[in-house]
Amino acid sequence: MTDSKNNEIDRETVSNKNTDQPGSGRVDAPASAKEEITFAKRLRTETAQAHRFAESTNFIKGVLKGVMDLESFGNMQAGMYLVYEALEAELERHRDHPLVGQIYFPVLSRKASLETDLENLYGAHWRSQVRTTPARSEYVDRIHWLGDNDPTLLVAHSYTRYLGDLSGGQVIAKIARRSLKIEGNTGLTFFQFDEIEDGKAFKNEYRNRLSDLPLDEDRAQEVIEEAKQAFAFNQRIFEELEGSWIRTLANFLPLGSNRRKRA
Ligand code: HEM
Repeated sequence: MTDSKNNEIDRETVSNKNTDQPGSGRVDAPASAKEEITFAKRLRTETAQAHRFAESTNFIKGVLKGVMDLESFGNMQAGMYLVYEALEAELERHRDHPLVGQIYFPVLSRKASLETDLENLYGAHWRSQVRTTPARSEYVDRIHWLGDNDPTLLVAHSYTRYLGDLSGGQVIAKIARRSLKIEGNTGLTFFQFDEIEDGKAFKNEYRNRLSDLPLDEDRAQEVIEEAKQAFAFNQRIFEELEGSWIRTLANFLPLGSNRRKRA
């Protein structure tokens, strides 16, 4: 794990001290004091509904039930390629930003693994299969807009995608492996974080970084609102996929199979 944390940050300005770690703010608090709500906890709680909406799309519900064909899976990953290409370009560009730098972890980068997966799924000319759509371009445009105008809010996009990949993403990978009958990691390296030994510990470290960000109340709320937007962008991407998935199923149903042979 890299340590891009900027230790020069004035810790006194931190308004959301994390209390999950020994030796943190909880030490001085009376035993009966109510547990402090860290920024990471607020982010999780306040985006819970947006999370539910995103995971309740018919596309994701289908994925969870194991009703998925390779074509839809490839299409989903092609969309994700555009998102991560934008996100990682902007995170890297702002890696020395006092806030973005604190949650910048190159071990999270997914662009290269998506390239590997898409090449395995589509062959050498995979790039021509990566097509933009209205939902994808809205999401990508927002990420670049933030990179140009308000990089702090990129934190919300990093949080929504990477913590999701380390959480629900792992569930999706297991189900996709089974339902698509994938052997080895063909098409699934995106879900594998080889350089992260302990996903749970990593997520806790990431949450600590979030909670230590020097955000005043207004900015904290803006990051939360942006995270809700990030979930909504993902939701729209899944809703779009649902349309193409249904078309795919319709094409394949008469043959009694919805699975295309892998290249
Ligand atoms: C397949 C559907 C999904 C399932 C089953 C799922 C499941 C989960 C679970 C179990 C957690 C808690 C993990 C933990 O506390 O360590 C989690 C957290 C999270 N998920 Fe999902 N998820 C799904 C879809 C999504 C989507 C579509 C996104 C957004 C792109 C997303 C983003 C997140 C984020 C950001 C967290 C971290 C919450 C936090 O602790 O602050 N998830 N998910």
